Amino acid sequence: MATYKIGLLPGDGIGPDVIAEAVKVLDVVERKFGHQFEYSEDIVGGAAIDRYRNALRPSTLAMCKKQDAILFGAVGGPKWDDPRAKVRPEQAILGLRKGLGLFANIRPVKMYPFLANSTALKRDVVKDVDMVVLRELTGGIYFGKPQKRWKDKQGRKAVDTLQYSEKEMERIIRLGFDIARGRRKKLTSVDKANILDTSRLWREIATEVAMDYPDVELEHILVDACAMHLIRRPADFDVIVTENLFGDILTDEASMLAGSMGMLPSASLGKRRADGTGPGMYEPIHGSAPDIAGQGIASPVAMILSAAMMLRLSLGLEDEAVAIENAVAKILRAGHRPADIALKGKRPVKTARLGTLIAKAI
Ligand code: IPM
Ligand code: MG
Repeated sequence: MATYKIGLLPGDGIGPDVIAEAVKVLDVVERKFGHQFEYSEDIVGGAAIDRYRNALRPSTLAMCKKQDAILFGAVGGPKWDDPRAKVRPEQAILGLRKGLGLFANIRPVKMYPFLANSTALKRDVVKDVDMVVLRELTGGIYFGKPQKRWKDKQGRKAVDTLQYSEKEMERIIRLGFDIARGRRKKLTSVDKANILDTSRLWREIATEVAMDYPDVELEHILVDACAMHLIRRPADFDVIVTENLFGDILTDEASMLAGSMGMLPSASLGKRRADGTGPGMYEPIHGSAPDIAGQGIASPVAMILSAAMMLRLSLGLEDEAVAIENAVAKILRAGHRPADIALKGKRPVKTARLGTLIAKAI
């Protein structure tokens, strides 16, 4: 029996609620497919600040480095929102990304046909949406130095730094081409080359890397135009590759195309082994939703789909991943829906109940 080591970082808010359902589903995968998942759990984010005054302790990072993959819930909440605070829950997620070398964030956005009426956009616009957004995750303005605020004669000032190296750009763009090659062979590179030097270098590198992929069509598009086209003609996009902050913003926007943010999983990956697998961290793209935490009503769908991505991309268990994805589709199609995509006149299914239904459908 193969044994896999999985780190669990539930975090804050609804994080613990939804991670419990992912584990419930993985329990069934273990039994049905004859694997063993060995879990190590730790607290991060606000919960860790309360207990240890540190959002991500060195021992947590060390534990994570020993795992085959990490499942991450969400961090943050109003309790830790003081903008002047030195320790912030978000430091956990940034520290994990950087500390584990997870430079590639993959966010697939796919429309389930039976949800095409549940989005804020017209059915005809969203019905064929099937794209992957690839976001650079360990560089750019999230990590550039200096980052600080100060005061001088003119008043309060602050600075953030947007910096990228050629290497950082090339590896993510290359991965974009690789993913596009396995799909509809169209890569959209998003930048702000009319304004930013980092973007002009990005565009140059994308054009250079494209030489190695003559079979993939490359288009360059400015980030503001991309934001518009995502709403106007979302089905035209196949793979989008972009830098950290643009990717952060565009993926929240793109999530609305799939019905709800509660539907979307994500994977954060580092260097791959020769067989294509490698460690990674998997998390829903939604946040900690403190307003509904602990009520048992959050949707576990994105977290469960993140576990499926983990099986595929870190553990190389494709059949098992598909089994989870099919179970999710089956249960949602049958009308068992969480509150964010509930059918009119039908009572939303609670977190634990939905997890059980999905687990049983595997
Ligand atoms: C995301 C989130 C994070 C980010 C926050 C929680 C630090 O918005 O994963 O998209 O900005 O990257
Ligand atoms: Mg975000």
